Amino acid sequence: MRILLAGGAGYIGSHTAVCLLQAGHDVTIVDNYANSCPEAVRRIEQIAGRKADCFQADVKDRDTLLRIFREKPVDCVIHLAGLKAVGESVRNPIEYYRNNIDTTLSLLEVMRETGVHDFVFSSSATVYGEENPIPYLETMKKGSCSSPYGWTKSMMEQILTDAAAADPELSVVLLRYFNPIGAHPSGLIGEDPQGIPNNLMPYIAQVAVGRREHLTIFGDDYDTPDGTCRRDYIHVCDLAEGHRLAVEYAHEHRGVEIFNLGTGKPCSVLELVHAFEEASGVSIPYVIGPRRDGDLPQFWANADKARAVLGWQAGRGIGEMCRDTWNWQKNNPEGYRGGRI
Ligand code: NAD
Ligand code: WQD
Repeated sequence: MRILLAGGAGYIGSHTAVCLLQAGHDVTIVDNYANSCPEAVRRIEQIAGRKADCFQADVKDRDTLLRIFREKPVDCVIHLAGLKAVGESVRNPIEYYRNNIDTTLSLLEVMRETGVHDFVFSSSATVYGEENPIPYLETMKKGSCSSPYGWTKSMMEQILTDAAAADPELSVVLLRYFNPIGAHPSGLIGEDPQGIPNNLMPYIAQVAVGRREHLTIFGDDYDTPDGTCRRDYIHVCDLAEGHRLAVEYAHEHRGVEIFNLGTGKPCSVLELVHAFEEASGVSIPYVIGPRRDGDLPQFWANADKARAVLGWQAGRGIGEMCRDTWNWQKNNPEGYRGGRI
């Protein structure tokens, strides 16, 4: 199959592209490099030993998309192109709604025009909101999101659900990711945030490599076993395999299906810090700071459905996630900007 990855040069997209190429699929990447760079695509091809077709383009741009879909006929779309910084979305909601929702609408319009029916969407555990009990289950009602970013995901799920209800040929798989971390074991691709990292794992990795002095842990007075927040961290390579299986599932089915992609196991901030120290042999200085607005004390996935229906299970543990993150960070201390290795 030929799979079009919108946002395929980014963190999750690059790992998914490698996985799909290695499974024998053809890959088209469409990315405007708003949060990535062409070097990532070169490295995807290096790992896979195969070319991907890559277009630098804005996924909002219908005409360009149409040209790309006609030049390289597509069997399935994976939509990863989105802005994802929670705090930035609070400060600049219009940009987030415009980018995230327009990319989805343009893809759906061009798919309709070119007769493409299979759509896999990068959604997020954030759509469960604050109201639901843990672990989160796909059958739960969505909750209220704590940021415009979260609302874009919730709204896009609704748009895709409505589109599938109106078009019996459309197949939509909504993948709700938990907290993706880790990197490809080659150390060639990984997460490369611009500026100060918002997320825990890239922050820890930058402290380890000497780019930041210390980590600030946002609160140690939560009602959790060690007082720090707990999350369901999942290795990005496990996530990539989830996409491959979702593409195959979308091809065989119609309508909408939701899957949680998580390990089902919570891990606290302090546990992650200590696991990273053990995997890297580097100590991570930290201070305890105030709680961060909008953080939930803890959540994790019930991932039984993905196992039962897709045959998918997260096989990599926290130690492997830390080891692979460190391997990426120490080989690329400045990320892709450090040049070729
Ligand atoms: P990322 O920023 O590394 O990748 C997103 C890619 O989309 C980037 O390469 C960016 O340049 C591209 N992009 C953004 N807007 C675009 C546009 N208009 N046209 C073309 N390209 C565009 O982020 P990621 O971590 O790989 O996340 C991928 C998707 O998964 C996002 O939609 C994100 O919201 C979602 N998601 C991520 C996480 C996470 O923690 N990383 C968790 C849940 C969901
Ligand atoms: C994890 C834990 C922080 C940084 C976010 C988005 C979510 C999804 C994944 C896209 C929390 C603590 C963090 C730091 C810290 N993205 N922390 N010091 O907030 O669970 O999820 O990314 O869909 O929508 O909200 O992930 O990595 O930011 O935080 O103590 O410097 O680490 O308080 O408990 P989060 P995170």
